[in-house]
Amino acid sequence: MTATSHDPAPQLVHQASPDADWWRSAVIYQVYPRSFGDADGDGMGDLPGITERLGSLAELGVNAVWLSPFYRSPQRDGGYDVADYRDVDPRFGTLADADALIARAHELGMRVIVDLVPNHTSDQHAWFRQALADGPGSPARARYMFREGNGEYGEEPPNNWQSVFGGNAWTRVCDRPDAAGSSWERDGQWYLHLFDTSQPDLNWDSAEVHAEFRSILRFWLDRGVDGFRVDVAHGLVKAPGLPDWTGQVRMVEGTEVAEGIAADEDTVPLPDADDATDHSPMFDQDGVHEIYREWREVLEEYDADRILVAEAWVEPLERLARYVRPDEMHQAFNFDFLVTRWQAPELRESIIGSYAANDAVGAPTTWVLSNHDVVRHASRLGLAETGKGPNGIGAEDPQPDAELGLRRALAGTLLMLALPGSAYLYQGEELGLPEHTTLDDSLRQDPAWWRTGHAEKGRDGCRVPLPWLSDAPAFGFSPTGKSWLPQPDSWAQLARDVQERDPGSPLNLYRRALELRDQLGLGTGSLETLPLGEHVVAVRNTTQGRPAVIILTNLGTESVPLPDGEVLLASGPLAEEGVPTDTTVWIQGTN
Ligand code: NOJ
Repeated sequence: MTATSHDPAPQLVHQASPDADWWRSAVIYQVYPRSFGDADGDGMGDLPGITERLGSLAELGVNAVWLSPFYRSPQRDGGYDVADYRDVDPRFGTLADADALIARAHELGMRVIVDLVPNHTSDQHAWFRQALADGPGSPARARYMFREGNGEYGEEPPNNWQSVFGGNAWTRVCDRPDAAGSSWERDGQWYLHLFDTSQPDLNWDSAEVHAEFRSILRFWLDRGVDGFRVDVAHGLVKAPGLPDWTGQVRMVEGTEVAEGIAADEDTVPLPDADDATDHSPMFDQDGVHEIYREWREVLEEYDADRILVAEAWVEPLERLARYVRPDEMHQAFNFDFLVTRWQAPELRESIIGSYAANDAVGAPTTWVLSNHDVVRHASRLGLAETGKGPNGIGAEDPQPDAELGLRRALAGTLLMLALPGSAYLYQGEELGLPEHTTLDDSLRQDPAWWRTGHAEKGRDGCRVPLPWLSDAPAFGFSPTGKSWLPQPDSWAQLARDVQERDPGSPLNLYRRALELRDQLGLGTGSLETLPLGEHVVAVRNTTQGRPAVIILTNLGTESVPLPDGEVLLASGPLAEEGVPTDTTVWIQGTN
């Protein structure tokens, strides 16, 4: 297919980096420990269950594994409520199991990234228990965000902030232990929690908090981990004086809207849309960058290979790029790409904008379509409205078109895996797993489900344990058949063993894509956009020593002509007329 004379010329949007660091082009696979593999049969995944299945990830062809938290935790937020940062929760195993996992991954040639949760601890953390016991004005309280309440008796929260999970961001404590049980039980100070009540925010003005996290970094670096995914990296520092703010920040997309997600209207005043200010005082404050400079220095004491990855819902992309300046973090998740609607102009814009922002600071661009906080992309892309999607889908909600969703998901993945930079995969997406959209409400565990007064279904539907064997109890997840969330019966056909035998399965497409990406060095190439039509995303990935690879995704309603060259891979069957709707092809040209 040739561009017509009025089409703009191909545009160089990314020049390959001269640096060859592993993390600039790595494919990193997210393991959600609760749901990957269960060795001890209690229905909850564990570290030995991961270690014994690591071979399957090496075979898939990923370069690194990122583990969501496995630390000691009451699991009020799936482990993002940490009670002890230096220990493994007994549900998941022991420190020796963590060592064995790291060693096995390294043996198999994969790096290991662990999750670091510095914005808040669990309310069961020794520090928080001490803060409650020691009372107002104590050094223990100074590690958290305790404040006096407003109102005559301090009965009003210190400001009007809302929790990301819905509801008030402040909880009042009892400061008269003798009064426990009486109507005066909660007569004390308030503590801030941007998430659940069980996740008190740390005070990052405290030198002790800084020292503690430097020490935690060293604890895990000494055990051999290759990096940290930093939870809520944009949240640690709050605006001085904690000013009122009537906006509401949405998880992952970060949009600071004022409409509010809190639906528990009895207890939670919804913010007023007209009062929203531009920028939230709880997120993306300039002070956070000092922290990452400090941490970068700690990492540099080890070797140049350890990394920090920012989970920061920050807009616009230029603002996010500040987290990956040369003396800060190495990567930041590209949620802009994840939340982009299934529309060619918007996807093109996201791709071009991502390179512009990251290249300006010398950082790699990352790509991601699914994780443990969003509806799986095989379902999200099958909804009438694509984009970030709802926070969970329930049986009575409009259901995704499964076939359409999967077709688009595979097309989106093939596009993403051909782009220079580092790509993140979420466990199960290689099986084309959909969201569990009919989960019984009584089984939901996500705090967002409770805190929004059930207005949001929450994230349980993307966290269902993986199907490994079609014909085994719990589809091979657990030897006893127990599973902390039930797996849909239809997942028998999606089990890994079935897909291994089927050359046309999503699993084999992912394997082949990762193999070709590696062989062709797609992750380290330069990229041009090609003007092949309004409803098409077309790019050319070039690098010295091999012919260019054209990647074309058709998001229009008609097939589009196949560019000249050899078809290396396609996300679905090709038509005689060319590339069908919702299909991606990789084509190797002759130049
Ligand atoms: C982001 C994590 O990905 C999410 O799962 C968690 O609930 C929040 N941070 C709070 O830690």
